Amino acid sequence: MKIFVTGAAGFIGFHVAARLLSEGHEVLGYDALTEYYDPELKQARLGVLSKFSGFSFERGLLEDEGRLAKVYATFAPEQVFHFAAQAGVRYSIENPKSYMESNVGGTFSLLEAMRVRPPSHFMFASTSSVYGGNVEVPFCEDHRTDAPASLYAATKRAGEAMSHSYSSLYAIPTTCFRFFTVYGPWGRPDMALFKFVDGILNDRVIDIYGHGKMRRDFTYIDDLVEGIIRLSRSVPRPDGDARQVLGSSNIAPWRVVNIGNGNPIELLHFVQVIEETLGAVARKNFMEMQPGDVVQTYADVDRLEKLVGHIPFTSVREGVRKFVAWYGDYYGDGR
Ligand SMILES: NC(=O)c1ccc[n+]([C@@H]2O[C@H](COP(=O)([O-])OP(=O)(O)OC[C@H]3O[C@@H](n4cnc5c(N)ncnc54)[C@H](O)[C@@H]3O)[C@@H](O)[C@H]2O)c1
Repeated sequence: MKIFVTGAAGFIGFHVAARLLSEGHEVLGYDALTEYYDPELKQARLGVLSKFSGFSFERGLLEDEGRLAKVYATFAPEQVFHFAAQAGVRYSIENPKSYMESNVGGTFSLLEAMRVRPPSHFMFASTSSVYGGNVEVPFCEDHRTDAPASLYAATKRAGEAMSHSYSSLYAIPTTCFRFFTVYGPWGRPDMALFKFVDGILNDRVIDIYGHGKMRRDFTYIDDLVEGIIRLSRSVPRPDGDARQVLGSSNIAPWRVVNIGNGNPIELLHFVQVIEETLGAVARKNFMEMQPGDVVQTYADVDRLEKLVGHIPFTSVREGVRKFVAWYGDYYGDGR
């Protein structure tokens, strides 16, 4: 298949693109290589993808509507994965406009391009952050998502809603994924695992928010990719399809599905696993929870399993070990 992947230079987009390419698909990546974090890491990911003959790449902003529409129309993809976004909860307090531009404006540009020539399946990366301060756990797709705690969450919830309207109006089969704290090799430098490993190895104090008591449903990248790929093959259809019962819309071939581990752990425990893996003790600075943060995330994976079967999840110990191995290979002693 010809598959369009936005955010292909990013952490998750890169891994999904690599999996698709290894299965023999033709992938066109679209990414602006924004400076939110080290663009060299993004270039290095593209370097890996470029080794596949089926890979091509266009650098551009999503919100550059004309360019995106042209690239999309010329490639004429069968499937579309939309990972490009301004990610991160905390930065949405510092620079809220970038979230409106990339996540709302950018998603709109892509939906407009797809309206002209709908793909057979559109997949949108949403987040567990849309559950906001929900206290009922585990988080189930049918729970309320109208009380986001950050603008990041609000823009992602907007993306879900916008995709529903286009799915309904233009019959675009759509799956929205809600990811839960993804980690693993080639991970993001602004996320906990990278910051902790980097801090410990370079003997820097690490900030631990919420006094380490926050719980996160850490999801290893390969498990996430497995869920994404399996869901990509199960296309939502309008009424009459038994799977629609498991969807979230009675008027559109649209659904939303959590992809998480379903086994949250305390941040402090996560740090302990990292310390044991590195054989070093972190210098810790315990802090209050940051604005926009939520106390816990915990995925109900019932819908995921009903749709695509059980995915055996990687233990945090094993996942951290693989990240540390990658970090050593990639940075050596040079960071
Ligand atoms: N990593 C997680 O734990 C997590 C959790 C929940 C949801 N998500 C979502 O999954 C998706 C991928 O996340 P990630 O961790 O790979 O993030 P990432 O920042 O590594 O990747 C996003 C990519 O999008 C590109 N990008 C950003 N704004 C753009 C724009 N306006 N136009 C074109 N390209 C742009 C960036 O250059 C980057 O390469 C995002 O939509 C994110 O919101 C991630």
